[in-house]
Amino acid sequence: MATTLLETKGLRYVYPDGTPAIRGVDLRIEDGERIAFVGPNGSGKSTLFLLLNGTLRPTAGEVLFRGRPLQYDPRSLRETRRRVGIVFQNSDDQLFAPTVRQDVAFGPVNLGLPMEEVEERVEMALEGVGISGLKGRPPHHLSGGQKKRAAIAGVMAMEPEVMILDEPLSNLDPAGSEEVMELLEELSQRGTTIIISTHDVDLAYRWSDRVCLLADGMVMDEGRPEDIFGDPRHLSGSGLRQPLILEVYDEISKRDLAAFGKRPRTVSELVGHLSPPNLRWMKVPPETEVGERIHPEGIDSVGPGRDKSEEVLVIHLQGGRAVVETLDKSVRIGRVIVYDTDGGDPQALSSLLADERIDLVGVMGTKSRAFAEKNQIVSDIGSNVIDRTILRALCGEAVLVITNGGMVEHAKRRIEEYCRQSGMKIEVSVVGRGADRAGSTPVPAPANAGKRR
Ligand SMILES: Nc1ncnc2c1ncn2[C@@H]1O[C@H](COP(=O)(O)OP(=O)(O)OP(=O)(O)O)[C@@H](O)[C@H]1O
Ligand SMILES: [Mg+2]
Repeated sequence: MATTLLETKGLRYVYPDGTPAIRGVDLRIEDGERIAFVGPNGSGKSTLFLLLNGTLRPTAGEVLFRGRPLQYDPRSLRETRRRVGIVFQNSDDQLFAPTVRQDVAFGPVNLGLPMEEVEERVEMALEGVGISGLKGRPPHHLSGGQKKRAAIAGVMAMEPEVMILDEPLSNLDPAGSEEVMELLEELSQRGTTIIISTHDVDLAYRWSDRVCLLADGMVMDEGRPEDIFGDPRHLSGSGLRQPLILEVYDEISKRDLAAFGKRPRTVSELVGHLSPPNLRWMKVPPETEVGERIHPEGIDSVGPGRDKSEEVLVIHLQGGRAVVETLDKSVRIGRVIVYDTDGGDPQALSSLLADERIDLVGVMGTKSRAFAEKNQIVSDIGSNVIDRTILRALCGEAVLVITNGGMVEHAKRRIEEYCRQSGMKIEVSVVGRGADRAGSTPVPAPANAGKRR
């Protein structure tokens, strides 16, 4: 059962100039949750966050951390801030040391950690946010996005139980935003509770377990993202728009083009709704022709363990792949191999990379990205790796996903869940140490270890 990490009871806050910013908020945030606060400018998101880690003291009501009311003496506050990390909306409020390295090290040094561990945490955090190259620079000379990354690194290095990030993506370029989201995903996989505020409804919708809609210092609505964003009535008057995926989904449902099911959260789910029940993309041998009837078990050359399936009719050909008509939804279409860089055999990886049956490679997670860079492995999928992997597998391709830690199991689970919900069949296997945890048999390395990239 989930345990409550943070709770507010009758929380109110009035700024010294008399502005009421939080006007009665009762909230519970569970351990391990990913929660996004959305709401118009001035609705109280930043104020609420500052109350959650004790930076502001409530005018009335209280904040509880793991069931105990926050105390506001300096010692208790230090302890709270160690466990409840906050990245401010404005990075200039956060960064103060002469160099980025010293700034990120400040927290861990204050925790009294041994120097080696401080070094290790600083390196990990800077690498995580992709600014290892800037550690000698003064923070006030960085660009807005670089400052944001430095501020996030500083909080990460404290390894708090919950990370609160006020507008973590403001100032970040699209690639930077994806990197930070991926980082938050990783921290979440490791069990850190993550709270963000954002004006990006597409992101809040895709990423969060729960969305909390603030307006005028009060919680207007909260719930699963598909419920909050799925019903335009929830959004009216909130200054928010519907996520793009839902807008498209609503339009196609109105036209009776979407299969009945839950609202899609990702592009692959949206595509799952659209897919006509009897059409599939799959790989076919070069000599295949339109109008031919073939057996899927005979045509898919990727890997062992083929299905016994009925005949399918080839109705369209394109670059070694075909659209086939089938009556059986469970015909396997593509294949995903997840390689765990934490415990995988490098030999197996190089065989996989050399295997011509692998169509593309996706690298996911900061550690694995560093690993890939070191080993000159090029990722064909820049961001949003799991979703894009599913989309490619749906087109009959074989994707190698290189990742590590909790992300191995997470990737496997997401793809399997997708298959269960959509009725599609994508084969997923895990290679490396994660193979035992994920309960799958390692794939034997193919013999033709040539050079792919
Ligand atoms: N230092 C302050 N002194 C007085 N009033 C303040 C102060 N900071 C914020 N406020 C007021 O408190 C209310 C809530 O502001 P807050 O910054 O929490 O909103 P927000 O939801 O974070 O907005 P944004 O989306 O613009 O970041 C607003 O009415 C704002 O004007
Ligand atoms: Mg704010």
